[in-house]
Amino acid sequence: MDRRSFLKASVAGGLTALSPAFALAKTEEGFFDLAAVKGQARLYGKDGGLSDLWLYNDRLPGPQIRVKRGERVRVRFTNNLDEPTSVHWHGIRIDNAMDGVAGLTQPPVAPGESFDYDFVVPDAGTFWYHAHNMSWNQVPRGLAGALIVEDDEQSFDPDCDITLILNDWRLDENGILETASFGAMHDFAHAGRLGNWLTINGASMPDIALKKDRWHRLRLINASTARILDLAPARFGAKIIGLDGQAFDTAREIEGTVQLAPAQRMDLVLRPQETGKLPFEMMTGKPFTFANFVVSETESEDLPLVLPPPNRLPEPDLSSPWELPLVMAGGAMGGMQSMMRHGVEMDMRQMMSEGLFWAFNGVAGMEDDPMFSAKRGDTIVLESRNDTAFPHAIHLHGHHFRVIERNGTKLENPDWRDTFTSQPRETVKIAFVADNPGKWLIHCHMLGHAASGMMTWFEVS
Ligand code: C2O
Ligand code: CU
Repeated sequence: MDRRSFLKASVAGGLTALSPAFALAKTEEGFFDLAAVKGQARLYGKDGGLSDLWLYNDRLPGPQIRVKRGERVRVRFTNNLDEPTSVHWHGIRIDNAMDGVAGLTQPPVAPGESFDYDFVVPDAGTFWYHAHNMSWNQVPRGLAGALIVEDDEQSFDPDCDITLILNDWRLDENGILETASFGAMHDFAHAGRLGNWLTINGASMPDIALKKDRWHRLRLINASTARILDLAPARFGAKIIGLDGQAFDTAREIEGTVQLAPAQRMDLVLRPQETGKLPFEMMTGKPFTFANFVVSETESEDLPLVLPPPNRLPEPDLSSPWELPLVMAGGAMGGMQSMMRHGVEMDMRQMMSEGLFWAFNGVAGMEDDPMFSAKRGDTIVLESRNDTAFPHAIHLHGHHFRVIERNGTKLENPDWRDTFTSQPRETVKIAFVADNPGKWLIHCHMLGHAASGMMTWFEVS
């Protein structure tokens, strides 16, 4: 579809905006062409104003990159913004040089410059990409998109394999992205930049088309900077088949709410049995509908449900792991008196004047030395403790880990994840094999928290 007919179609209704026409095609040389540009969109629907955004290929969300497990992915990225940026491939167990962390794995891509990303995707599943330079300022302006890695066999009709990028925005009274508060210290020191408006694939209150008596796979991606989404898949008849791109070995029916924190993904299957509308709700407080599933009759072929097989990940050896603490501290109401910065102790006033509110193990922000250096193949157990007054969503680059314990209780399902949530006072143990050489970040994916101290790194050699 060209841009004109696309615009016309999206005015006609929300359904088209959710169609898979967003998938990016390769150039003749085999590259996906991706450019960060300035663009605009109506986040509040057709009655709201146009927001100035930063977009990949002028689309909100960015174009979907869809590849096969094991495929070599080459992305020719061009920066047409006025400030440096980089692209991170979230959740991919990637070659370190291609991880896209400006200042750690590559220099930022200057305005007008290009960078070729070239990597292999070892796992099938739902992943995403986003800006990773001044992320707190770039991601919430729209720089994010889906990276879908298909299994060797595609078991869902393409119309029934639906990617939904959920995003929380802070809009002003005209329905326009509020930009004056970007980087507000108050947000950084509290729960992060929470918004007041949710979109799915950039559309406000969209209808999501489903087919009666057909199996669907829904790939949910929370691209919000700070908003934890409380979802209740069982209320619309869906089961969970995987988290953070890693498939379970069976579909799970979960009653009640399930949290989808910033950067986390959740894959669902459902087979609607009646035509009509099913609300898609956020369950924080009173259920709040932010989209509708619209089920209609179909002639299309009825495919049996084939669950994607789990990926093969290196199994942590828990007989003699290297155990390390990861204590989160700081923030408003956190009671922290001081923290270390480049080997110097700083009191609260000094910290605040430098825009630092958070620490891991008493240290604020990135140091020259890693938090730990692992030998390739070491099993690491991180025991995290949240000594702050807020929840956090902690992401490890380059690896997936099993969440093995919460508050001292071994979990029945030690799921693989790349981002785990931690509630105030909670202890969470995660385990992984440090098998991917390079320099890898550990940070809170509430991007204002990461920018104000909740970020460190480790090394594998
Ligand atoms: Cu999704 Cu360091 O990021
Ligand atoms: Cu946080």
